[in-house]
Order: sequence, then C-alpha cells, then structure tokens
Amino acid sequence: MPPIEKIVPLETSHIPFVMRLNEAAGWNQTEKDWARVISVEPEGCFALFADGVLASTATAVCFGRALAWIGMVLTDPAFRGRGYARRLMEHALEFLGRRGMEWIKLDATDMGRPLYLKLGFEDEAPVERWVLDNVPAMPRVDLPPYKPDPALDLEAFGACRSRMLELLSAEGAASIPGEGFAMARPGAKADYFGPCVCRSPQAARRFLEWFLSRSPGRPAAWDILPANVEAVRLAREFGFERRRQLVRQVRPGLAAGQPLPHNDAYVFAIAAFEYG
Ligand SMILES: CC(C)(COP(=O)(O)OP(=O)(O)OC[C@H]1O[C@@H](n2cnc3c(N)ncnc32)[C@H](O)[C@@H]1OP(=O)(O)O)[C@@H](O)C(=O)NCCC(=O)NCCS
Repeated sequence: MPPIEKIVPLETSHIPFVMRLNEAAGWNQTEKDWARVISVEPEGCFALFADGVLASTATAVCFGRALAWIGMVLTDPAFRGRGYARRLMEHALEFLGRRGMEWIKLDATDMGRPLYLKLGFEDEAPVERWVLDNVPAMPRVDLPPYKPDPALDLEAFGACRSRMLELLSAEGAASIPGEGFAMARPGAKADYFGPCVCRSPQAARRFLEWFLSRSPGRPAAWDILPANVEAVRLAREFGFERRRQLVRQVRPGLAAGQPLPHNDAYVFAIAAFEYG
C-alpha cells in the first residue's frame, strides 16, 4: 500500500520530531530556532507526514512584500528521494505567490541546490560556514545594549527584517552607536555569531571579541558572505576555518520588481541559513 501523505502547518508540538531530522542532518539549529521561525511565520511553515510520521519540512518567512526566505528544507534520511522536498517547496512557493512576494531567496546546500535550480532559483553568491572548534579564553568585552538600526539593516540586507531581529536579539545582542549591531545565540553544536551588520571592519572586530569573550572553551560557528573580504580576513585572523560552502540563491516571485539592492560589505555575519 502506498503511504498516506499529507502536508500540514508545522507546529511547535512537532518540534521534538523535527529535532530528530535536525540531528540526523548534523544541523546547528536548536528547538528555539525552529520555534522562532514558526512564531514569525506560522502560515509559512510546513511539514509533510507519511503514514503519520513527520518525514519532511520547509519554512518560508516573509519580510514585508519585498523578500521571502525559504529554509529548513529537510527530509528524514529514510524518506529521501520520494519527492517530499519538491512537494513542500512547491507548497511554500504557492503560499508565497498568494502573499504576492516580489523576491524569494534561500541558502542552498549541495543536496538542496539541484532541486532549487529546477524550481527556477539562480545562484546569487556563495555563503560559507566558518568554525572555531575551541574558543580561547579572553578578557570579557562589553558593549552597549542592542539598539535597532532599521535603516542600516535595510541597506545591508535589502528588506526589512525588524521583527525577526527583535526576536533574535532576546538571545544576546549588542550595538556600537553609529556603527551597527551584532547578535549571538547558542546552537546545537556551536555557539552562533550572527547577524553582524556594521559599517566598518573595526566595529566587526569589536563585535567578534564581544561574542568570543562569552564562549570560552566552546565551539563557535559564523556564516559569512565571502564577498565581504574583511569578514573572511577577520575569521582567519581569529583562527576560524571554513568548513562548508552553500550558495545563496534568488528567484523572482509573481510580482517581481527591480532586483533588491543589498550591501554585503556591511554584512559581517548573516543571521541564519533559514532567514538570510
Ligand atoms: C535536500 C533534501 C531536502 C532533498 O529531500 P528529498 O525529499 O529527498 O528530495 P526530493 O525527493 O523531493 O527530490 C527533489 C528533486 O531533487 C533531486 N535531488 C534530490 N537530491 C539530489 C541530489 N543529491 N543530487 C541531484 N538531484 C537530487 C531529485 O531527483 C528530485 O528531482 P525531481 O523532482 O526532478 O525528480 C534532503 O536530501 C535533505 O534533507 N538533505 C539534508 C539537509 C539539506 O541539505 N537540506 C537542504 C537545505 S538547503
């Protein structure tokens, strides 16, 4: 008998089951990361169940009408190759079409990229996971508390993600007046540095020291757009190693206008693969 398959909204009660897939894929996302995506865009998060078992997920977060971000595309290894990720992607794209989104982006792994290419996504830029396995102890660096800078973030990222940033800032965030902001949070495998959006490498260095001085003895992860050569230079200087390369991809939505301007020179750390 073929399995009974259905796509349903992903809910917080599914998170313990999702975490099994998360672990099987070796992802750094935590239960909180999944809960955050669901709370920001409850109508855009989907799960595919096969015979009552959560087999596959995909999430889509909208930043206004300008830009949507697809993430958490994940299929249980036992259920791969059955077309589940494709069906969830098509479901998510339909949702974004109904919302009238102008542009859609995602950060593609090697495993996901062939599917996204078939669905009309095009490569925009590489994005890299850099890791420091054991953060050395260092004097604690304190910075002023986080103050949102929507204009800077819009210029850097290309769309307004104030709501997401507000939620992320609850886990740890700092600002340097006139320069920018940075955030940090625990991960399943490594403490995570990002987003870090600021106007100068000097500020980025202070933010990095702020982050590292709070994670002695822990592994640290940092996702970098290598177009920002100063971010790469800092990562090397502080002993980080490049471990994975993904590809940021873009696809026009139904209502695509002009391509979204963004400024990678201000993006010293992305926020997350699942929302850019
Ligand atoms: C990527 C992933 C989600 C695909 O899930 P899946 O449910 O097995 O994918 P599907 O069965 O829907 O396959 C989708 C399409 O991609 C193709 N495809 C899937 N994996 C592929 C691979 N490694 N190489 C080439 N093509 C591949 C399939 O042939 C299929 O094409 P078709 O629809 O034209 O027949 C799954 O491999 C996974 O969870 N990987 C680990 C996590 C990950 O990297 N996720 C992507 C994050 S961006």
